[in-house]
Parts: sequence; C-alpha cells; structure tokens
Amino acid sequence: MAAHITVNGDRFVEMISERRIKTAVKRLARKIDRDHRGTVPVFIGILNGAFIFFADLIREVTIDCEVDFLKLSSYGDAKISSGNVRLLKDLNCQVEGRDIIIVEDIVDTGLSVEYIRHLIAPQNPRSLKVVTLLFKADSVKPGTHVDYIGFSIPSDFVIGYGLDYAQRDRNLKAVYRLHAKAPREKAGA
Ligand code: IMP
Repeated sequence: MAAHITVNGDRFVEMISERRIKTAVKRLARKIDRDHRGTVPVFIGILNGAFIFFADLIREVTIDCEVDFLKLSSYGDAKISSGNVRLLKDLNCQVEGRDIIIVEDIVDTGLSVEYIRHLIAPQNPRSLKVVTLLFKADSVKPGTHVDYIGFSIPSDFVIGYGLDYAQRDRNLKAVYRLHAKAPREKAGA
C-alpha cells in the first residue's frame, strides 16, 4: 500500500516511488548520452527544485559535460503558480555555440521553460534541449516544447525529490501528491 505523509495538516500519498524515479533517471540519461555523443553539453539546473534530479541525472550520464545553474522565482509559499517568472541568478557560462540541456524538476504551466528559452536562444547555442522529471500534461500551455520527460502526471500538487511545499520536504526520496487538504478554520469562525 502506498505510503501517506502529513505536511502542515495536509495529507499526501506516494505517487512515484524512489525505485521508479531511479529507473526513469537512468532511462533519461541513456537517451541524453545517445543524442549528445561526441559533444560536451552544458547541463543547466533550474534552482531550487531541480537540484536533486540534476545531481542524480548527471551522475548517470557518461559523456563529458559541464554544469551551470539558473535560479528562477517560482511559487513562493503557495501551491499555485503566480504566473510571474523572475530571474534570481543568471548563468556564468558562455552559451554561444554550446549544446545546452535545461534540467527542470517539473513543467506545470510551461511559463518557466518558455522564459528560459527566451533568455538562452538569443545567445546562439548550437542546440537547446529541455529535460524534466515531471510534466503536468493537462496544465501546460499549448506549444510548450520539452525534449525528455520522466513522468507525465495529472495536475495535482506534488512534493518531494527536490519539490517543496513552502520550502519544506525537498528531501523526501519519493514524489508525493496532495491527497486531502486539512480543513482550515474560517476567518471569524
Ligand atoms: P511552470 O512555470 O508553471 O511550468 O512551473 C515551474 C515551476 O513551478 C517548477 O520548477 C516548480 O518549482 C514549481 N512547481 C510546479 N508545480 C509544482 C508542484 O506540484 N509542486 C511544487 N512545485 C511546483
């Protein structure tokens, strides 16, 4: 039976086990290896959420590679995207002529991925690919392009394996989805 956890009074149920994540990471790494043989791509991790997936993925990749990071603002402490993306940390690497692989934890509306494309494409990379562990197929804006997907998931709020709930629970080894919200007291009740 799937494990349940309670966070801030909300109940979460295990959605993707540690074992299934490991298998998916290996599969993605093998595909990236095949597609980039003979090149030295730059993996760009999107902080904070992608840090665990990023570290696991690049250790499964066997081709030579470099790493860099971008930090974007995301949900703050909420469970729904604000719709605004802000750049909190820019790249240090030279993008021109390089094969760039953006590493995301999750693509929800796709706004972050589109923002990153518009940031990087004008710097003339040789190629630009996006890999995400999780992809919310029903929430994503039409036309958002992602090259490598670990798992397509429903539009539930999820935590663990790098993904946070108000900055907590990134260190969970599996991915959990929101199952039942805690009853909140009504104002003035
Ligand atoms: P997008 O711009 O709407 O695609 O959202 C991308 C970012 O929102 C991700 O990199 C995460 O930081 C955050 N995010 C999206 N869905 C979830 C979720 O279910 N749990 C936690 N964070 C999420």
